[in-house]
Amino acid sequence: MHKIPRRVWLEISREALASNYRAVCARVAPAEVMPVLKANSYGLGVLPIAEVLREAGAMRFGVAEPYEAMQLLPLERSVHILSSILPEEIAAMIEADVIIPVTSLDGARLISRTAEKLHKFASVHFKVDTGMGRLGILYDDAFSVISAACELPGMLCEGIFSHFPLAYNRESPVTPAQIAKFKALLARLSQSGIYFKYVHIANSDAVNNFPDSYRPPFNLVRTGINLHGAFDAQGDRSLDIQPVLTLKTRLTAVRELQSGSSIGYGHTYTLKRKSLVGTISAGYADGLPLSLSNLGSVIIRDRLCPIVGRVSMDYTNVLLNGVTDAQIGDDVTCLGATESQCITIESWAQLKNTHPYEIICSFGNRVERRYI
Ligand SMILES: Cc1ncc(COP(=O)(O)O)c(C=O)c1O
Repeated sequence: MHKIPRRVWLEISREALASNYRAVCARVAPAEVMPVLKANSYGLGVLPIAEVLREAGAMRFGVAEPYEAMQLLPLERSVHILSSILPEEIAAMIEADVIIPVTSLDGARLISRTAEKLHKFASVHFKVDTGMGRLGILYDDAFSVISAACELPGMLCEGIFSHFPLAYNRESPVTPAQIAKFKALLARLSQSGIYFKYVHIANSDAVNNFPDSYRPPFNLVRTGINLHGAFDAQGDRSLDIQPVLTLKTRLTAVRELQSGSSIGYGHTYTLKRKSLVGTISAGYADGLPLSLSNLGSVIIRDRLCPIVGRVSMDYTNVLLNGVTDAQIGDDVTCLGATESQCITIESWAQLKNTHPYEIICSFGNRVERRYI
């Protein structure tokens, strides 16, 4: 059987990934960096990404839920579930030594009972809602819940954390207020003799914008998007990080079409003059946003080629008037840089009216992930 190479592939630069990890480490030192690799490492492929980061020195990884935690166990590093846990998931996570978030006293009691039944200790971090408005112990209940939970048997209460909704905005009072509330809670807990080995609140935005979020008492940061080579849509970008991704495909057709020819579904573009039109082998099933239709470009032979007509599921038409030497089979860069051209994740996010996270998470199943 012939091995058929994929038509669409995502080149993921291991070196850029490791370099981004080192840049975050250098920024927040002596705090430790926990790469957040949820959703299959933002869609890029969790194990190869985790391997690069482990090699670069990462000692722990953060994920959203138990299935993702299990995927990372072979790497023999600490794995933290950062969001929530369902009652029926607790036993398996304790057995696997996954670090569990505590988001309520009832949840803590169940974790404790399960740990006792299993004759194991459950490692937990308390998740406190200081203003995220999504998951966690409500701030006003946090002191009493945590004090009570720390008395329960079978639990190693090793961490406490919170999360930011607005850390991209340096001007907003919300983030400093969350930090202040969190510190006040820590102070109150310490008066009762309750201390934690790990105290964390910063995400990528906070690392860029709020130094207080990674200085003592904080000693760990959780970072995702910056490692993957992008920033949040808004906010200052004080870290020097490198792009990690290049999305490529092939040119599958080159045709000369007459003036007045209309192109693709909906006939949304009509040629004003006789033109060379190429068809590339990638569409919205591969993650090209539909909103690139008649607005985006791709790069062929280091030249920008405007997308004409509507992006379809598998194919997209481009004007080749500036690339008359284009040949069927040419590599096409849909996203990323060539020698002198660059199409950024941010530019796609802007056209799609979304943020870079959604762009990175939206590459389709057909897209081969190549780690280079
Ligand atoms: C609890 C938690 N911490 C950290 C992160 C990492 O966020 P970012 O990719 O913005 O660094 C996430 C991701 O949304 C998260 O849910």
